[in-house]
Amino acid sequence: DWTSDVFIDATVAELKAKIGDDKVVMGLSGGVDSSVAATLIHRAIGANLYCVFVDNGLLRKNEFEEVLHSYKDMGLNVIGVDAKQRFYDALAGISDPEAKRKAIGNAFIEVFDDEANKLEGVKWLGQGTIYPDVIESVSVKGPSATIKSHHNVGGLPDFMKLSVVEPLNTLFKDEVREVGRALDIPETIVGRHPFPGPGLAIRILGDITAEKVKTLQEVDYIFIQGLKDHGLYDQVWQAGAILLPIQSVGVMGDERTYEKVVALRAVGSVDGMTADWIHLPYEFLGKISNEIINRVKGVNRVVYDISSKPPATIEWE
Ligand code: XMP
Repeated sequence: DWTSDVFIDATVAELKAKIGDDKVVMGLSGGVDSSVAATLIHRAIGANLYCVFVDNGLLRKNEFEEVLHSYKDMGLNVIGVDAKQRFYDALAGISDPEAKRKAIGNAFIEVFDDEANKLEGVKWLGQGTIYPDVIESVSVKGPSATIKSHHNVGGLPDFMKLSVVEPLNTLFKDEVREVGRALDIPETIVGRHPFPGPGLAIRILGDITAEKVKTLQEVDYIFIQGLKDHGLYDQVWQAGAILLPIQSVGVMGDERTYEKVVALRAVGSVDGMTADWIHLPYEFLGKISNEIINRVKGVNRVVYDISSKPPATIEWE
């Protein structure tokens, strides 16, 4: 029978044998998967693991600073890189969802490669790939055409010439969380909702600007904080807000407004392959909607997404 302790002992031993005295470089995302994978590798090889955490300007409000702090507390050897402008430049004028993913993927590889090249003699690339990522990538490559180009599995650029080490690629998300808790990773990281690599870029329909990111960060923050304050966060598998590329008429005082619409999305799921929308309490939705409209400049309407996957997807892009 699978237990997290058995998994940890076996995996750490395996990693030690495989990696020996080599150096490993690894990109951290702030999510559960990369954090747990890094902690396992760190257990095995200690200071020979070099982590890079990139601020792509598409993270949630305050996330970069808070998560970087947690990583340091966990004893990881981590470099934080502010690459916000580089990503905004790479995304300028791009509206197509797959083109955004490609631009972000390429920018990430460039930034990461710059950092990796500063380190001498690195042989391995650590990755937080989990089992559903492997499955979904295989199906994405199948004849049914590209659904969404997830996760860059197998998509390593040749010039990096590193061997990949993926200690979690046989686990499901709930098992990753169990391992994370057994490794004493803070609950703020282990219990965190999944968040897509391209971040808020695929929740801003249309082109990306720093100003739109700021608006969506404020909306998302009110929603996520609200879920936490009302004890709902842990009942939801993933939640977030989407900034729509349309304006609608509203009224404030005796002024007519013509401003943005945001959609809120909260789903239940096991592995993201299928998902159901969550019946959040009306009182909660009403309160959050008021808070968003009153506090976030440029937003005058909030809608709630009641679509399930399939046929919708979790993300809007
Ligand atoms: P969809 O929208 O396909 O999302 O139902 C399923 C899960 O995958 C996440 N997602 C991504 N994660 N890169 C990622 O790392 C991506 O390009 C990407 N697209 C979707 C999504 O947040 C959900 O958890």
